[in-house]
Amino acid sequence: MIPFIDMTAIRNAAGAALTARLDAVLASGNFILGPEVAELEQRLAEFSGAAAAVGVASGTDALKIALMANEIGPHDAVFIPAFTFAATAEAVVSTGATPMFIDVALPHMTMDPVHLREKIATVRREGVLRAAAVITVDLFGLPARYEEIATLAAEEDILLIADGAQSFGGQIGTSRVGTLAPITAISFYPTKPLGCFGDGGAILTTDSGMAAKFRELRHHGFDAARENIVQPGMNSRLDTIQAAILLARFDLFVDELARRDTIAGWYGEFLDGAVEVPDIPTGRKSAWAVYTVRSAHRDALRTRLSASGIGTAIYYATPVCDFEAYRRFRRDDDELPRSRQLCAEVLSLPMHPYLDRSTVEQVCSEVRQALR
Ligand SMILES: Cc1ncc(COP(=O)(O)O)c(C=O)c1O
Repeated sequence: MIPFIDMTAIRNAAGAALTARLDAVLASGNFILGPEVAELEQRLAEFSGAAAAVGVASGTDALKIALMANEIGPHDAVFIPAFTFAATAEAVVSTGATPMFIDVALPHMTMDPVHLREKIATVRREGVLRAAAVITVDLFGLPARYEEIATLAAEEDILLIADGAQSFGGQIGTSRVGTLAPITAISFYPTKPLGCFGDGGAILTTDSGMAAKFRELRHHGFDAARENIVQPGMNSRLDTIQAAILLARFDLFVDELARRDTIAGWYGEFLDGAVEVPDIPTGRKSAWAVYTVRSAHRDALRTRLSASGIGTAIYYATPVCDFEAYRRFRRDDDELPRSRQLCAEVLSLPMHPYLDRSTVEQVCSEVRQALR
């Protein structure tokens, strides 16, 4: 058996430091917004270069709070990629805003800036909704095309939010995820590059004024003095126990990112020519949350790997706009051909920092045999 992700190996790597961190929280009894949350926020900001980080209950809530803080609501259009996890669309719809689906560009599978520009023009021409925000998604860990999208958002006076749920640790040049957009939502879901052992998330921002607003909204909207509520918020605090786990795991993070990069390199070496392997543009670093290949024979390949005991996953089988809940937001001209093509071709192979070269070789040899 080669599991898709080996959570036991990840847990064991954190070793005694993890137990010590957990014991400290249990001894303190400080379970809600304990000192570990503030310590983690400090480390997240220092590592990424963001002005501040605010821990919340999940990556989904991080997106919701980012939108709420900017008063995105029923008269607003929010542009999101069609090829993403459902949470990106869900956060938009939860505010009453309308998601507008943008196709992705190949080969990198992130939001297509050309289609984004066209859709912004359509919304402006129709004059019904305000073109309010764009949420880019750093798919599989690779930062989106911020060079073009941040420029476009600034030109169009549109808020830019990065859905960095999968990409904490990724970078463009020397700029890390957390600084590529004014606001970045990250997830600590267990399988993410920096994952906890439950649900968790954070909002990183380059604007410390914004961080104060996020802190209010994660705690029902209470102001810093806990005396007044101006805007209703939510109960979305990062759990102290999860923060403690993340602090223990943070000590290994740089090493684990390097391991993921090495593993991706092995896959690229062994699989090139058999399937379409991920292409990382020069100067970018992926956090390699997931290692996703493309093949016209995806389903047969997956069946064969499964029969050989190799865990795989399909991210994503359905463009988010095709789920029943989101179909009503689809427009007549929403062809989104590349998102649809990817849904039929993508296959994610085992990826976690403790995969060794011979295991990767074994997976690749099965892939090659299946496609022969
Ligand atoms: C692109 C994307 N956005 C948002 C989320 C939501 O994160 P969470 O599961 O922490 O709510 C995920 C989680 O998988 C994701 O992959």
